[in-house]
Amino acid sequence: MKVAVVGSGGWGTALALVLLENGHEVTLWSFSEKEAEILRTQRENPLLKGVALPAALKICTEIACVAEKELVVFATPSFAVRETAQKAAPYLGDGTLVVSVSKGIEKGTSLRLSQIIDEETKGRCRIVALSGPSHAEEVGRHVPTGCVAASLDREAAEMVQDAFMNERFRIYSSPDIVGVELAAALKNVIALCYGVCDGLGYGDNTRALLMTRGLTETARLGVAMGGKKETFAGLAGVGDLIVTCTSMHSRNHRAGILIGQGKSVEEALKEVGAVVEGYYATDTVRTLAGKYGIEMPISEGAYQVLYNGRHAKDVLMELMCRDKKHEIEDASW
Ligand SMILES: NC(=O)c1ccc[n+]([C@@H]2O[C@H](COP(=O)([O-])OP(=O)(O)OC[C@H]3O[C@@H](n4cnc5c(N)ncnc54)[C@H](O)[C@@H]3O)[C@@H](O)[C@H]2O)c1
Repeated sequence: MKVAVVGSGGWGTALALVLLENGHEVTLWSFSEKEAEILRTQRENPLLKGVALPAALKICTEIACVAEKELVVFATPSFAVRETAQKAAPYLGDGTLVVSVSKGIEKGTSLRLSQIIDEETKGRCRIVALSGPSHAEEVGRHVPTGCVAASLDREAAEMVQDAFMNERFRIYSSPDIVGVELAAALKNVIALCYGVCDGLGYGDNTRALLMTRGLTETARLGVAMGGKKETFAGLAGVGDLIVTCTSMHSRNHRAGILIGQGKSVEEALKEVGAVVEGYYATDTVRTLAGKYGIEMPISEGAYQVLYNGRHAKDVLMELMCRDKKHEIEDASW
């Protein structure tokens, strides 16, 4: 297939390489000329050290490169999905298979990223969300990885499954694009909190408590918004939560550690350098929790620390001292 990958960050580059290895003709679009020049001359992405970019991988900065492609992958940071889809839309043919691999929810509208692409392309494309426990650095090194391709359009999900799947990259298909995209965005908040607990010096018990109760509250919101509970128990749900919480590849985790160690939120975000999606997602999740009337105490705690300057240790103590609950009845998903 003729493919364009829009966004040459770590994830876009790693996926472009998977598609190239699978025999597709791939063009990788860079947001900046400077970034494109580094990729062209060094044949390496600084975010994927040691992973060579074969000469067959075309690099460009013209968004018109999406024209006449059968498959277009959107891999920008979530905040840039709308503007990028807007720029690409005039060049996308009707029925183009579009894969959204970014993770987030739009601030202000609370739309999922596939909904934004659908809006900007006026419903002309077949959209699939691809998500799961997958660090770019590891996919780039051929570490065995599994993801989910989700779409209401079953044929489109299976075409994406076929395009990406190989012996190191296993793809499951799913109709639950709502659950897959929400799980991807919501887990970043929990991963940030996990990092905060690490930064505060707590142990494995706290980590397990946070991941388990974090999954419960994110699934509660996800199901209220139309996602399926099975998705939250699958690769895009608990799978991605585990990998994002436990890995030092995760910027959310790293930002959380710095905050737990006493750095200000601004200092932590600056030190991590790259986009910390969990910071933005925390604000959006709070809005959604209010809109759907869902109790999300951990996400609310994250909001208090990130946006209201509360001390993480105090917030954690408040969470521990909440009213007693029934684990099964309280799950309600
Ligand atoms: N890195 C991973 O392992 C991974 C895995 C799965 C999903 N994701 C998701 O994929 C998305 C991209 O992540 P990443 O790690 O590749 O990001 P990154 O931080 O490595 O790269 C960001 C890229 O976006 C470009 N960019 C910056 N501003 C832009 C704009 N206004 N318009 C278009 N492009 C712009 C930058 O030039 C850069 O190439 C995120 O939503 C992330 O959550 C990442």
